Amino acid sequence: MRLAGRRLLLTGASRGIGAALADAFAARGAELLLVARPSELLEAVAARTGGTALPYDLTELDALPGLVERAGTVDVLVNNAGVSGVGWFVDRTMAEIDQVLTVNLLAPVHLCRLVLPGMLERGRGQVVNLSSMAGVFAPPGLTAYGASKAGLSHFTAGLRADLRDDPITFTTVTLASVSTDMDDEARSYGPLRAMAEGSKGRDLTPMQTLVSAVVDAVERDRPEVRVPTAMAPLAAMTNAPRKAGRLLFRRVPAKEPRTDVPIT
Ligand SMILES: NC(=O)c1ccc[n+]([C@@H]2O[C@H](COP(=O)([O-])OP(=O)(O)OC[C@H]3O[C@@H](n4cnc5c(N)ncnc54)[C@H](OP(=O)(O)O)[C@@H]3O)[C@@H](O)[C@H]2O)c1
Repeated sequence: MRLAGRRLLLTGASRGIGAALADAFAARGAELLLVARPSELLEAVAARTGGTALPYDLTELDALPGLVERAGTVDVLVNNAGVSGVGWFVDRTMAEIDQVLTVNLLAPVHLCRLVLPGMLERGRGQVVNLSSMAGVFAPPGLTAYGASKAGLSHFTAGLRADLRDDPITFTTVTLASVSTDMDDEARSYGPLRAMAEGSKGRDLTPMQTLVSAVVDAVERDRPEVRVPTAMAPLAAMTNAPRKAGRLLFRRVPAKEPRTDVPIT
């Protein structure tokens, strides 16, 4: 999809990968709708990209329809907001676990459900979901996080199957490490710190490499972004049964929509 003039809703836009993506999408002429919890950082990203700040806490699922209404038309949805909740699972509180699953998985699922009807009506749309290698292998201290990202990747594959006959495209971004607040936080946890010391930065992808790959995927409707390249085969292996499923189910209709109610 050409980005110029397209309305792009980006979550987690206040810092890290989201802020870098906001700069890159703005440079391509996209009209940005920027979501994160209320902060000066979010306002600053909106000011420098000419986008609209939509301050919102994504744990508040019940009010998400109101956020989507405020956003208006969405041509591209980028589910980027995330929290790691890093730590030994047994040390995590129920509230911390719920926050990880809600921000990383439930909010993207709800946002897709809310924006897809409009995309279908307009006959175009694109969804980009930021997943993680933690959803491919299971690193220590990222138990709920890894589950949320495995769920997000599988959900994206499911959407692709359900909407295979429709003009909506889906991109799963599977990445290992990019230097951000989240990555710093993860590396402060003993077992991951030990891993990081061993790898001496080889697992880190430069922010610009990731951002260019994501922008390219949006512009060329690519289904998968996997970085770093050295780890891409692991993500491809996890994805293999999903691809096999596409072949298995291709002889049956993709969907049986209800005819008694309009899609809303
Ligand atoms: N960095 C990595 O190494 C890495 C690796 C694999 C995957 N990823 C994925 O890439 C995405 C971006 O990560 P990042 O490294 O850029 O993280 P980050 O620097 O920690 O930024 C997280 C973003 O999510 C937003 N966010 C968190 N909780 C929120 C909530 N309740 N409501 C609304 N917004 C919320 C934050 O905004 P506020 O706090 O301002 O609300 C912030 O903009 C995430 O989905 C992450 O899982 C990152």
